Amino acid sequence: MALLEGHGLWKKFGGVLALNRVDFVLNSGEIAGLIGPNGAGKTTLFNVIAGAFKPTSGHVIFNGTDITGHSANRTCRQGIARTFQVTRPFPEMTCLENVAVSVINSPRQSEHGNWHEPALAVLKHVGLHTHSETLAKGLNLIEKKRLEMARALATKPNILLLDEVLGGLNSQEIQEAVELIQDLRDRLGLTIFWIEHVMGAIMKAADRVIVLDQGANLMEGTPEEVVSDPQVIKAYLGE
Ligand SMILES: Nc1ncnc2c1ncn2[C@@H]1O[C@H](COP(=O)(O)OP(=O)(O)O)[C@@H](O)[C@H]1O
Ligand SMILES: [Mg+2]
Repeated sequence: MALLEGHGLWKKFGGVLALNRVDFVLNSGEIAGLIGPNGAGKTTLFNVIAGAFKPTSGHVIFNGTDITGHSANRTCRQGIARTFQVTRPFPEMTCLENVAVSVINSPRQSEHGNWHEPALAVLKHVGLHTHSETLAKGLNLIEKKRLEMARALATKPNILLLDEVLGGLNSQEIQEAVELIQDLRDRLGLTIFWIEHVMGAIMKAADRVIVLDQGANLMEGTPEEVVSDPQVIKAYLGE
């Protein structure tokens, strides 16, 4: 079932056409990869979905409702959470406090008065509970990525938009992060839209892959179909 759809999305920044009529469908409960060369428009697409930018034209449909141009806050309340390519924790706050901010600011949160337990539960889910009292600035890269995911998860989303969460991690850390992403879908039932350059991870965990190039749809298919497609090899994967 289609949970999130984009129809004919355009986004222009001055003379730059960042999105050129992009269409996509994200099905409920799937892990969909979003790949393409640098500058292809992947992050812009997330910004348009998550309400950071209004598209120049086109529509974003979530659960059958047109949410085009809704603010980032409203989109988050509706159940779409995102991580940023460059992590953005509050550096002088502990991990628990960082997650608590998301819990407290989430109108989807039922236990309003009690942020401690839900925040700790989310930290535990991403494997950061032993660092609950660590200041965010003291975390290493994978821990920062985990915290970034925890902050998104604390808003209790239906859809999680992940923007290059594996960048800079070693192979063991990539393995752990991929297991975490799969677990979020399998155990929490999240639908995941995942921008990633680490093709091995996409091959392992994505059900379907959408490829963008120069702001436009290039192709989509299973990970196997995508990596063996001559157009994708030419535009992105190289020889
Ligand atoms: N805020 C912005 N202002 C101007 N141009 C932008 C902005 N964001 C992205 N772009 C441009 O849009 C294009 C797509 O960028 P982006 O979505 O970040 O690509 P990707 O995430 O696939 O690497 C690039 O040419 C980029 O320079
Ligand atoms: Mg990007």
